[in-house]
Amino acid sequence: MTQKLTASVALITGASSGIGAATALALAAEGAAVALLARRAERLDTLAEQISAAGGTALAIPTDVTDERQARAAVQQTFETWGCVDILVNNAGVMYNSPIDGADTNEWRRMVDLNIMGVLYMTHATLPIMKQQQRGHIVNVSSVAGRLAFANAAVYNATKWGVVGFSEALRQESFGHGIRTTIIEPGLTETELFDHITHTATREAFLKRVQAMQSLRGEDIANAILYAVTQPAHVNVNEILIRPTGQDR
Ligand SMILES: NC(=O)c1ccc[n+]([C@@H]2O[C@H](COP(=O)([O-])OP(=O)(O)OC[C@H]3O[C@@H](n4cnc5c(N)ncnc54)[C@H](OP(=O)(O)O)[C@@H]3O)[C@@H](O)[C@H]2O)c1
Repeated sequence: MTQKLTASVALITGASSGIGAATALALAAEGAAVALLARRAERLDTLAEQISAAGGTALAIPTDVTDERQARAAVQQTFETWGCVDILVNNAGVMYNSPIDGADTNEWRRMVDLNIMGVLYMTHATLPIMKQQQRGHIVNVSSVAGRLAFANAAVYNATKWGVVGFSEALRQESFGHGIRTTIIEPGLTETELFDHITHTATREAFLKRVQAMQSLRGEDIANAILYAVTQPAHVNVNEILIRPTGQDR
């Protein structure tokens, strides 16, 4: 059967777990060579081996994307290895939800550094390559929380709202170069994301919500990303919001 992404090169941040790992597997299964970025090198190596064993092509590049130099070096390494970058999936993100009053401001900084600055650094490093190629596709993973605000999620909301605004401005600046942009807005998806919430009541409330419904899986979001990046070149899927059927807001 023909693969839809043969000869394509994709760079995926946050590939060591959850949505990012599922996306790497999905794009690789369609023939893309995938550069896997995250901090946990062992996880990336295991995923790269899994992709290779299935006949795909993968490169693990341990990277902290909140460090501009590391982000730029990872893009450069991908370009030098395969000679182009067709798809960038800005997926890495953290969610330290808690009430504003009494919040740990270090957690705010970590969310802003990764959910916003990580996206900006990766995009800044990749855009000149895509402009030179006169083609490319940048997929930014925001959230339902980038469209609706929730109590105890204020700063996460702010970062994901930021991703939505940045993505639309990016679209307007880059469509003339054959570059497409897609915002992905997942609802509740069962991953490691909630485990990192340190505010106990907020974490428990989240886990209760997740258990009360059939949540999405990383693969469900990967399928949406795959749909967006496999459309014909004249089709720009700008935004996909996906909730579990049982999610209220
Ligand atoms: N799960 C949901 O319900 C949901 C809903 C809406 C939106 N989202 C969004 O989906 C995206 C993926 O999250 P997920 O649910 O798949 O959660 P996850 O399993 O916790 O994945 C987060 C990924 O980000 C990576 N990461 C964290 N800090 C990093 C850094 N400084 N540099 C590079 N990578 C870093 C993690 O890898 P390392 O720790 O190895 O670096 C991990 O691979 C996030 O942007 C999240 O906001 C998730």
